[in-house]
Amino acid sequence: MTQNQGFVVWFTGLSGAGKSTLAEALAPALRERGIPVEILDGDVVRTNLSKGLGFSKEDRDANILRIGFVANLLARNGVAVITAAISPYRDIRDANRALIEGDGSQFIEVHAAASLDECEARDVKGLYAEARAGKRPGFTGIDDPYEAPLAPEVRCDTGRESESVSLDRILAHLEEAGLILAEVAA
Ligand code: ADX
Repeated sequence: MTQNQGFVVWFTGLSGAGKSTLAEALAPALRERGIPVEILDGDVVRTNLSKGLGFSKEDRDANILRIGFVANLLARNGVAVITAAISPYRDIRDANRALIEGDGSQFIEVHAAASLDECEARDVKGLYAEARAGKRPGFTGIDDPYEAPLAPEVRCDTGRESESVSLDRILAHLEEAGLILAEVAA
């Protein structure tokens, strides 16, 4: 990483696609390279910064713009920021990219690309079953849109590949982008 220059790794994908899991795996891999890291996870942000927001398009947009705003403040002060929110709308993700790149930090969009079938089959939180039963109207992928990125910097096939393969894919991109050094064998 160039001195004092942070960057943003922006995960996007359906609920249960593995965004938080990958964020939690990426953070220590960066910290062990001496890079300061913060994670902005949708589920966590919604308990504080975005408390009270729901899942209408307006509320999701507000949530994602807040995450982008904070990510930018951190990144321009040398932090590697990892965000993990569904961020279903392409235009709002792109607005955050413009903000962050405009301030001189790289924006690395990572699509956790597990399919709806794969996420629903796992249904870790039981929310897809609730959505199918009509108890959770406006659930992303069921009756609310998810706009996949057209040209993400990294695409992880999280429905099929292992966490470590996805993590290696992301680290390889960060190396190629000059944001981290290649690991040197001890
Ligand atoms: S976002 O759309 O604004 O980016 P965010 O990532 O913060 O969403 O929150 C998504 C999480 O909220 C999901 O992983 C799930 O646990 C929960 N959730 C509750 N209701 C919904 C819903 N209607 N659509 C999607 N996720 C929901």
